[in-house]
Amino acid sequence: MRNAVITGWGKCVPPAVLSNADLETVTETSDEWIVTRTGIRERRISHVETSDMAAVAGLRALATAGLEPDDIDLILVATCTPDRLIPSTAAIVQDKIGAGRAAAMDLNAACSGFIFGLVTARQMIGAGGFERVLLIGAEKLHYFLDFTDRSTSVLFGDGAGAVVLEGSDEDAGVRSFELGTDGSVADILCVPRSGTEGAPGPDRRMVVHMEGAEVFRRAVAAMGDASTRVIEEAGLELDDIDLLIPHQANIRIIEATARRLRLHPSKVFVNIASYGNTSAATIPIALTEAIDEGRITPGSNIVFAAFGGGLTWAAAVYRWGSRIEPLGSSDADLPPSDASGLELMQPNIDLYGMGVQ
Ligand SMILES: CC(C)(COP(=O)(O)OP(=O)(O)OC[C@H]1O[C@@H](n2cnc3c(N)ncnc32)[C@H](O)[C@@H]1OP(=O)(O)O)[C@@H](O)C(=O)NCCC(=O)NCCS
Repeated sequence: MRNAVITGWGKCVPPAVLSNADLETVTETSDEWIVTRTGIRERRISHVETSDMAAVAGLRALATAGLEPDDIDLILVATCTPDRLIPSTAAIVQDKIGAGRAAAMDLNAACSGFIFGLVTARQMIGAGGFERVLLIGAEKLHYFLDFTDRSTSVLFGDGAGAVVLEGSDEDAGVRSFELGTDGSVADILCVPRSGTEGAPGPDRRMVVHMEGAEVFRRAVAAMGDASTRVIEEAGLELDDIDLLIPHQANIRIIEATARRLRLHPSKVFVNIASYGNTSAATIPIALTEAIDEGRITPGSNIVFAAFGGGLTWAAAVYRWGSRIEPLGSSDADLPPSDASGLELMQPNIDLYGMGVQ
């Protein structure tokens, strides 16, 4: 099968910061509790829609690949927080970036969405018919948070990351992968009544519901075990792995996963302190920052690992190609905004603080 290699990468995080100190003003929590229990110091709150962040990340990824929007055959947007149910966020992005030749569709595997998308793109390029795929992970999670619920509101943030995958004869790309789902425990991480279930009405509460401890336990096991299996399947030893880029949900989950894998902390990429959990966007944002920080070099063996609502889990071994330098840069950006994180989340406080059930 033809290889599919990452030739472009980019991220877009909105400017408004919501700090732990800000959260202390709206729910009974503390900076100390959040930092020690999760590793998160701040997160971003978006003043625009998911598709806006996705489009900017996508244009930045296209620029590093030296491509124009018209070069793209397929846009895949991994998201569980689409602008609308119809059309797909990918279709909105297609219009916003002017990629008129591309087919476009969304993919929802919650926080595992980027790796599900990576495998989907690789299979579609490998099977033929698609040559260049723009894969974006983008989320506006704050829309689905009750900021008075301290057990969920401190964990999540907004943002987007993107990669371009191109068909290639280079000895690079996805070496092995595992995608998994256990729908029987879907209720431990979900947004009830966010679709067709339940009676319609103006007061429908649509917020993240989570059984944190159970999700934690399953996340460590699923990410650690799937990573071990994909490394073995790729015919690699632990010493061959240059970098683990895990989904950023909780620093303690990341550390426990690395311990389970017996991987030295220096080989684990962590940026959760700055963004919290941005679901399908954490891995492409982290990948972009890892490249910017020189943590990836030609031929690097990278392990991606994630888990999320579904429950889903995913892991992949990816061998980097020969080019790490961007071919170009983009001046695409979000419209400016002076609103603070606290101001942007006020509508949620007004709604859910009133006890909307
Ligand atoms: C949510 C999570 C951080 C909670 O951490 P924990 O160490 O399990 O904490 P617990 O739920 O046992 O709560 C311990 C205490 O802290 C309290 N607490 C919970 N959230 C708090 C907060 N934000 N601030 C202060 N106290 C908090 C609890 O009420 C509890 O108090 P109690 O002992 O008086 O009942 C952790 O379970 C987690 O990260 N789970 C996975 C979540 C996740 O990754 N979800 C996304 C998946 S993609």
